[in-house]
Amino acid sequence: MSLVLITGGLGFIGSHTCLSLLTKGLDVLIIDSLVNSSKENFLNIKNLVKNNYKPQVGKVFFLKGDLRNNKWLDEIFKKQISIDNPIDSVIHFAGLKSVEESVLNPIKYWDANINSTLSLLSSMEKFNCNSIVFSSSATIYKPVYEGRITENSLKEPINPYGNTKNTIETFLKDLYISDKKKWKIINLRYFNPVGAHESGKIGEETVGKPSNLFPILGKVISGEMENLSIFGKDWPTKDGTCVRDYIHVMDLAEAHFSALQFLKNNPTQFKSINIGTGKGYTVLEIVEKYSKLNNVDIPYKFSDRRSGDASSVVADNTLALELLNWKPQKNIEDCCVDSYRFLLNKLSKIK
Ligand code: NAD
Ligand code: UD1
Repeated sequence: MSLVLITGGLGFIGSHTCLSLLTKGLDVLIIDSLVNSSKENFLNIKNLVKNNYKPQVGKVFFLKGDLRNNKWLDEIFKKQISIDNPIDSVIHFAGLKSVEESVLNPIKYWDANINSTLSLLSSMEKFNCNSIVFSSSATIYKPVYEGRITENSLKEPINPYGNTKNTIETFLKDLYISDKKKWKIINLRYFNPVGAHESGKIGEETVGKPSNLFPILGKVISGEMENLSIFGKDWPTKDGTCVRDYIHVMDLAEAHFSALQFLKNNPTQFKSINIGTGKGYTVLEIVEKYSKLNNVDIPYKFSDRRSGDASSVVADNTLALELLNWKPQKNIEDCCVDSYRFLLNKLSKIK
């Protein structure tokens, strides 16, 4: 049985990916500092696996700690080898992800994202674990484009968060070049992950003030925010609001499983792959679909454009479809309905 280390595995995308891997029979070791998640998610994952799936599921383990603690990380790799269950691949989600916070506190972001990745890769190298899937982002592309973004589109991040992602991709490339017979590396560049597992038990938790559209819709519906501010109504799009490529988090989770399989079945390599649906929706379309499908009221007003926004960010996902034997199965309606189910579940626990 192979063991996959999932850093940041109790976060939004990590928890869904753990579920997806476990149901396919892979064993999973989660390392998470809980800086943006809670231990409750570990129980949620275990319960979902126990209650909903067949007996061939993998085993899941959790260790609380920060990846930057390199001695501790070395001990984990060493221990797994000593019990004859070595970590044979890694999915690296752990990191900080708020664009706004990264602008205000770049030291925190460079330290958290870069140093944790350096620590992880140095342990991997030491213990001969050479396969990694890294969580990159569409935010590394230059935000002025028409049409779909390919992996060869210009990379020019405009905030510290994006700079850390771009730098990690560069670092991983250097590592690959250092010994082309050794490393298997895939950067998955996510577009806009949204939605939740269909059970409504896991989804996107936000610690602090959210800045992304779907978590904000949740705040407006729950009454914590009076209305949604739509950033700009004069963009060159069909209704004047920005277009994004929203990908359901379970489809994204499946893409990680496919990426691991690809690395397992192919020789050493370094690849960057867009993970999106290839379809874009405007903010107004999302508001309309979300409110109609879930029968909720979403009051909104228009405000100025947000700095750093681009009119349209849509993936060319041809490479993912070709290489990964993967295809998104969910649509924008699933994203809206599953997000709302998770929101209702969360609100029912608060009451
Ligand atoms: P998340 O914050 O929900 O999950 C990240 C997890 O990593 C959290 O559980 C957090 O506690 C943990 N963590 C952070 N720093 C750590 C450290 N030093 N050591 C150990 N654990 C640590 O975020 P997410 O939305 O699940 O995103 C996962 C990854 O995908 C991130 O790297 C993010 O930058 C990237 N990404 C996210 C999006 C998005 O919109 N959600 C888009 C593109 C890329
Ligand atoms: C943002 C980040 C990006 C990051 C991505 C996923 C910025 C400029 N970009 O992208 O780096 O990779 O999140 O974490 O922050 N919107 C509103 N009102 C709101 C919130 C959003 O109108 O209150 C609009 C935005 O203008 C955008 C769309 O909704 O058109 C989606 O926004 P968001 O969820 O923040 O994602 P991105 O802007 O694509």
